[in-house]
Amino acid sequence: MSEISIEKNRRRSSADDMAKLQKEISVSEFFAQNRHLLGFDNPRKALLTTVKEAVDNSLDACEEAGILPEIWVHIEQTGKDKYKVGVQDNGPGIIKKQIPLIFGKLLYGSKFHRLRMSRGQQGIGISAAGMYGLLTTGKPIKVMSKVSQRKPIHYYVIRMDTKSNRPDILNGNGEGEDIPANDDGRKIIEKQEIEWTEVNHGTRVIIEIEAKYQRGRGSVDEYLEQTAIANPHITVHYSDPDGNTQHFDRVVDLLPPEPKEIKPHPLGIELGRLAHMMHESNETSLLRFLTESFSKVSPSIAKQICAAAGINSKTTPQKIPRSEVEKLFYVVQETHFPLPSTDCIVPIGEEQLLKGLHKVVPGQFFATATRPPAVYRGNPFQIEVGLAYGGAPASHRVSLQVLEEMLSESDARTLRQFLMSTFDGLGMDAADKIIKSARLRPRVSPKNIEPKELTRLHESLQSLNLSEGQTMNVYRYANRVPLQFQAGACLITQTVQNLNWRSYGLNQTRGQLPRGAVTVIVHLASVWVPFTSESKEAIAAYPEIQKELRLALQAVGRKFGMFMKRRDKVKQEAERRSIFLRYLGEVANAISRINKFERDTLLNMLTDLARQKTVVADVKLGENGKPVDDEILTDKNDFGKNVIINDQTTKTEIPTTDITSA
Ligand SMILES: Nc1ncnc2c1ncn2[C@@H]1O[C@H](COP(=O)(O)OP(=O)(O)OP(=O)(O)O)[C@@H](O)[C@H]1O
Ligand SMILES: [Mg+2]
Repeated sequence: MSEISIEKNRRRSSADDMAKLQKEISVSEFFAQNRHLLGFDNPRKALLTTVKEAVDNSLDACEEAGILPEIWVHIEQTGKDKYKVGVQDNGPGIIKKQIPLIFGKLLYGSKFHRLRMSRGQQGIGISAAGMYGLLTTGKPIKVMSKVSQRKPIHYYVIRMDTKSNRPDILNGNGEGEDIPANDDGRKIIEKQEIEWTEVNHGTRVIIEIEAKYQRGRGSVDEYLEQTAIANPHITVHYSDPDGNTQHFDRVVDLLPPEPKEIKPHPLGIELGRLAHMMHESNETSLLRFLTESFSKVSPSIAKQICAAAGINSKTTPQKIPRSEVEKLFYVVQETHFPLPSTDCIVPIGEEQLLKGLHKVVPGQFFATATRPPAVYRGNPFQIEVGLAYGGAPASHRVSLQVLEEMLSESDARTLRQFLMSTFDGLGMDAADKIIKSARLRPRVSPKNIEPKELTRLHESLQSLNLSEGQTMNVYRYANRVPLQFQAGACLITQTVQNLNWRSYGLNQTRGQLPRGAVTVIVHLASVWVPFTSESKEAIAAYPEIQKELRLALQAVGRKFGMFMKRRDKVKQEAERRSIFLRYLGEVANAISRINKFERDTLLNMLTDLARQKTVVADVKLGENGKPVDDEILTDKNDFGKNVIINDQTTKTEIPTTDITSA
């Protein structure tokens, strides 16, 4: 008994033993171990994340330099589960000495320490992709960059040393190489088999990684398509591993306005940060520190704060003791400041969003709405929403060849699972309907489908009307970047689900996405996007953001509801008219027999009357959503700006000749 208790209480290691094991962990070791935090949790997602980090950087760099972005994305299979990703841009390029640090060191970048709207913010994205490539294939990252037409291309082969989080340069005796901008240079490029698309300035990154290429939801193809919607000013050339090439051409030739950098707003500041800022400050007085370090602090507000905290405004900030910093902090919390200025956020814009949406999602009705800027935790943000209705589902657009490739790429266990996970908005009911009409079994494995069955499946996919079985598609964006994972954890999805779409004419089970052929796009633009994790996939639930989301969704919802009501009314009246017309011939015959009134004249009069009574059936809605013919405008409500309505098929013509012969 006593032996056991002695055993229980035995010291297993001493503080000295433990001290031997305690040592620093480098960021790169940490993230190599926790690669899922950065979006490298499985080979399929790793491919997407790599492309995304490179493309997002390219777009940021082009826009910051005021260049209309043109991007080349090339994915090539190099072995079983191995792919080479090449992304090039026509951006400003990167100067020689910065290249190794940017691509070979985690947490190195230009965006973290500033409050300015951009796609990247953490300084980790592209070097993490390079590190993942190195860990999984052993291949270093290759970078080429050129800053002007006559300057050489700086060419680097870089391997990150994960122990020290430092770059090792493998070419040019550890110095990198310069490839001259002339015929000699072109020969070197050809000889060394370096890929480079001729541009005056720009950067190309090549990373080889362990990955899996699979189309459908959450794929690179989807990312590029959705990026094109929210960035109508970019051109992308995409070669996929199957050798297909796609081009997304820009629909607007103007860059979005340049977002301004702002200083932090005092209301967002935390005590520790305030203390740190004061300690690091070079200002000579507290007054100047307050006015220069924060936005919206005028000298008079600063004086007020100093007085309320009982600190002389001329004191040097570094010399103020901690207890007084705390006092200062509480006074700041109680002070009333003007809201942050909002010229630091650049929304896509209602018109541009409408154009982008119309281009990629076909349909009958489109509306967009942008909310005025608002603030969370001191950070300005803005919400915009677009809605498209009536488009054919993605399953209608797939070709036989692509379907075959998708089936072979898929790791879904059953056909039903394949359909639901591949096509946006395709729910279980719709999947079952397709499978039934193709005379297949829902549980058959996608890999075991025979060629004949494949043709039947393709026909069903193309021909079935799935509007009832479809669920609303929600495209989420943060600073123009599509968010493709963790939909359930994202505030955007949650807000869409919790809105009552029944009042706008859609079927919906409470708390779920509504049904119908509807696509909703939601964009959050902010100087700092509150992601739930480093992999930047879902937006955290700040109440201020939720409120704005709800208001924006309601704004497009109301317009959509009006459209649905009006469309139903036109349809109803058309049906009423066709019933009238069916019997008018008979009525005219009978009456003319009774009172000898000329039958044809009578029929014309009756037809005119029917036409007048069902005049709404003739309402045709124009481009702006208003009825084209104002005289028969029965509903004075206007859809407002930024609505597109495509020609409707509900209109019925009066077939006069048929009736007279009846
Ligand atoms: N194609 C490019 N052209 C010019 N500069 C680039 C390019 N790619 C990266 N950079 C520079 O390298 C820095 C680091 O890029 P990285 O992707 O690692 O971080 P980030 O974009 O700042 O933030 P995040 O981790 O959120 O992506 C960027 O901040 C930018 O200054
Ligand atoms: Mg980045």
